[in-house]
Amino acid sequence: MNGQAAHIGLAALADVDALASLETRLFFTDRCSRRSFRHLIRRQAVIVLRGSDAGAILGYAILLTRRNSGKMRLYSFGIVEEARRQGLATILLHRLEQMARTAGKHTLTLEVGDGNLAALSFYRRHGFIQYGFRLHYYEDGGHAILMKKPLAEVPEP
Ligand SMILES: CC(C)(COP(=O)(O)OP(=O)(O)OC[C@H]1O[C@@H](n2cnc3c(N)ncnc32)[C@H](O)[C@@H]1OP(=O)(O)O)[C@@H](O)C(=O)NCCC(=O)NCCS
Repeated sequence: MNGQAAHIGLAALADVDALASLETRLFFTDRCSRRSFRHLIRRQAVIVLRGSDAGAILGYAILLTRRNSGKMRLYSFGIVEEARRQGLATILLHRLEQMARTAGKHTLTLEVGDGNLAALSFYRRHGFIQYGFRLHYYEDGGHAILMKKPLAEVPEP
């Protein structure tokens, strides 16, 4: 799948059920509830990636920010299993970086489970570096690696 085949945009309240079911497929702990999704969608913090027909959600991200901070936090991020290793997460991440730059942010931060080798490999490949570690960070007792990526200026074409 290439960039033109993917539609990326803000989630709508009508997406809550699909997002909640995606969340149970992607994560075993610290899942986002329907109520939280509704709240985050109203704050325009949930970004969804759909396939070429702009139908089913193939991936999503939650981006959090505070007004007086130069950082943006990638709070959640994932692609449905059957659509992985096709570059979709890369397309979504590039768009999120663009959104963060447009919002005047200089750094993206995230937390990732220390045993989540696929995600660690993905984030390292995309320039994230570890800056911390949190013991028993997750509800199931799992540890988190804290990562960040400085957002370089992209020159005008
Ligand atoms: C991590 C995740 C988002 C990657 O999505 P994706 O669409 O497969 O990623 P892309 O196709 O854009 O990039 C693939 C690259 O990421 C890395 N990668 C992805 N999955 C990997 C795996 N299982 N093992 C090793 N490297 C992996 C590789 O560098 C890979 O490149 P390659 O296919 O040329 O080897 C996806 O595996 C996922 O949704 N996982 C479950 C949810 C999750 O853990 N989210 C992160 C929470 S912090």
